[in-house]
Amino acid sequence: SLLVPCVQELAKAPITKVPARYIRPDQDSPIISSLPSSMPQVPIIDMARLLSQDSVHSEVEKLHRACKDWGFFQLINHEVSCSLLKKLKEETQEFFKLPLEEKMKFGQKPGDLEGFGQAFVVSEEQKLDWSDMLSFITLPCHLRKPHLMPKLSHPFRDVIEEYSKEVEKVALKTLMFMAKALKIEEEEMEEMFSNGLQAIRMNYYPPCPQPEQVIGFTPHADGSGITFLLQVDQVEGLQIKKDGIWIPVIPRPDAFVVNIGDVIQIVSNGEYNSIEHRAVVNAENDRISIAMFINPNLGAEIGPSPSLVTPEKPARFMRITYGDFLKKYMSKELKKSNIEQYYI
Ligand code: SIN
Ligand code: FE2
Repeated sequence: SLLVPCVQELAKAPITKVPARYIRPDQDSPIISSLPSSMPQVPIIDMARLLSQDSVHSEVEKLHRACKDWGFFQLINHEVSCSLLKKLKEETQEFFKLPLEEKMKFGQKPGDLEGFGQAFVVSEEQKLDWSDMLSFITLPCHLRKPHLMPKLSHPFRDVIEEYSKEVEKVALKTLMFMAKALKIEEEEMEEMFSNGLQAIRMNYYPPCPQPEQVIGFTPHADGSGITFLLQVDQVEGLQIKKDGIWIPVIPRPDAFVVNIGDVIQIVSNGEYNSIEHRAVVNAENDRISIAMFINPNLGAEIGPSPSLVTPEKPARFMRITYGDFLKKYMSKELKKSNIEQYYI
C-alpha cells in the first residue's frame, strides 16, 4: 500500500474545502437523513436467548433470518463486560489523541496494511477516505508483528489483549449458532475457526468541513469470516446497503454490530451474504469505530459446506485455503465486493 497523509492532521487546519483527492462525486450522498420511522432497522439478536434452553429455537430462527435477509445484526447480552468495553473505548480515544510523531512509531511500512495509516491505498490516483486507522493482527500470537501490538503503551495493550480473548469466545459461540441455523456440522465450523486469524482495526474519522462530499470508509464487503464492530461514543456513521438503499446502523452502547464476511458467504454456499457497507462522516463530531475481524486459521480450506451442496443447489464457490484467500484480498483495492473471483 502507498503512504498518504494523516487525515486528522489535515482536519486540524482551518480549512473550509477538502483537498481534491478526498472529493467523491462517485458516491451516493452520504448525508444522514433523519430516519423515517418506517425505515427498517438491523435486527437485534440476544445472546442470552441463544444460550437459554427455553428460547434457543426461536432465537436461532431469528439469527437465521437476520443473516439471510440482512447480513448484519446487533448482538446484545453478549457477556463481554461493559467495563472492558469502556476501557477499550477510552484507550483507543487516547491513542488517536497522541501527537502524530507518537502515532507514526506505529506507521504502516510500505506494502503492509498493519500499523497506523490508511487502508488499501494501491495507486496515486485512487480517491482517499476521510479517516485514519490503526490495525494489526491480534491472534494467533506468533503472527503479531513485534513493532505493533507488543509496543503499545501499557494499559492499551493489556486492554486489547483482554478484549481479543473475550471477542474470540463470543465470536466462536456466535459461529456455532450460525452453524446450527445453517444446519451444518458444528465440528466443521469449529475446525475452520479454531486458532483462527483475528485482527483489529480502529478507525478514526475527524469532523469534515464538507461531509457530504467525502466518504469516511469506502463502500466494501468484509473479507472476514464475521466481523464484530463497536461504534464508540454513539456517533452515527455506519450504513449498510439493503435493497439499493443506504440504511444507517443506529449505535447502541450495549451491542456489537456483527456482520457476515465473504468467508461465511462461501461456507454457506451463498445462503448468507457479505453485505456492502460504508462509513460517513459529519461536520461536528469526530467518530471512532473498532472492528474485530474473525477469520479461519490460515491452513483451513474454505468452500461451500458439503451439507449445503445438493443437486438442486450445486456449489457456487470454489475451494481455497484461507491463507491463499487472504493474500488475494489484501492485494486489491477495497471494492463493493471481491467475491466474484470465487464463483464457479
Ligand atoms: C468498517 O467497515 O469497518 C467501518 C465501519 C464503521 O466505521 O462503522
Ligand atoms: Fe467493513
